[in-house]
Amino acid sequence: MAAIYLDHAATTFVLPEVRAAMEPYLGGPPGNPSSIHQFGRRAKAAVEDARDAVAALIGAPPSDVVFTSGGTEADNAALIGAALALRDRGRHIVTTAIEHHAVLHAAQWLETMGFEVSYVEPRPDGVVDAGMVARVMRSDTILVSVMWVNNETGAIQPVREAAGLARERGAIFHTDAVQAVPWLPVDVEEAGCDLLSMSAHKLHGPSGIGALYIRRGTPWMPLLRGGAQERGRRAGTENLPGVVGFGVAAARLLSKRRTGFEHAARLKAALLQAAREEFDGEIVVHSPERAVPAIVNVAFPGAAAETVLMNLDLQGIAASSGSACTSGSLQPSHVLKAMGVPDSVIRSSVRFSFSVETTMEEVETAGRAAGRIARRLRRRNSHG
Ligand SMILES: Cc1ncc(COP(=O)(O)O)c(C=O)c1O
Repeated sequence: MAAIYLDHAATTFVLPEVRAAMEPYLGGPPGNPSSIHQFGRRAKAAVEDARDAVAALIGAPPSDVVFTSGGTEADNAALIGAALALRDRGRHIVTTAIEHHAVLHAAQWLETMGFEVSYVEPRPDGVVDAGMVARVMRSDTILVSVMWVNNETGAIQPVREAAGLARERGAIFHTDAVQAVPWLPVDVEEAGCDLLSMSAHKLHGPSGIGALYIRRGTPWMPLLRGGAQERGRRAGTENLPGVVGFGVAAARLLSKRRTGFEHAARLKAALLQAAREEFDGEIVVHSPERAVPAIVNVAFPGAAAETVLMNLDLQGIAASSGSACTSGSLQPSHVLKAMGVPDSVIRSSVRFSFSVETTMEEVETAGRAAGRIARRLRRRNSHG
């Protein structure tokens, strides 16, 4: 049976054209972008082409885009780099309780270094209220970080409003847009972001490469020290195949993104319908009205998520529970917990996530299979 992969929020596959573009930089002649010979110049040109494509995805000037080793480094560099640069102006940071661990754990580390962090809780629908962000801000708040799209529920956060409120009060604004960039027309100018994180492996590029947008003039200092790469903002010889792959994936996404969202909305509706036809209980969908439909987090009450996932896996269907980093560790999702979802419902929640390449047939098969498996488990449990 052909495998059905519905865990794209964890990672996507590398597209054939992305792999083909990377190949000459893996197997061909070497070339360090800092070298002045022809190989170096060719490498440098490839990096700048990729930077143009990545910048176009977020409406940024290419010179404001810094390549990193992924979303995690971009988030760490954003929070820690801004906090250290602004530590003489204030020590208070505002973020949300539903951020990815790349932001949460960086914020918690900053707390051990003498910063104070306020974590704004979401409403029950998984959306953070921008007004709440403003309410916890203080005169010494230096940085506000609110993710654009939540990786577990797809909930779209009020980034533009939060950015406006933060900047109005003299703080700089960061957003983790790792899950937003693949689906939304992200524009750093329109949204008013000073810092923005993205990652290539969520959009059919390779893993281990991402980018941090740093608005020109933003108080910030680099994490990595060494060579003068990335205009002194990120030391270390560039991951050339990764950068090139990111560029090609970005260019392709730019032309597909608009129709991708509508496609995902149809897929979501079909998956839920198929699941409801098979499951005999009430399915709980953990997403608000304003959500990226490519992330579908559903609870099948009475059926344990881990068992549903194992049974799906036996049928060649890959999905996940919570985020990839928390699944397997038996930790209930911090996102669903913050939304006030009862533990029993969290334990029966499964996340399906699509890419622009996902087909209707795949989601219908997966939805039916999940509904059937969950019905069987629920009956067994209730008779157990
Ligand atoms: C919202 C969000 N931020 C950050 C990351 C981390 O990105 P990376 O895997 O490229 O380090 C992820 C990936 O799971 C994510 O979903």
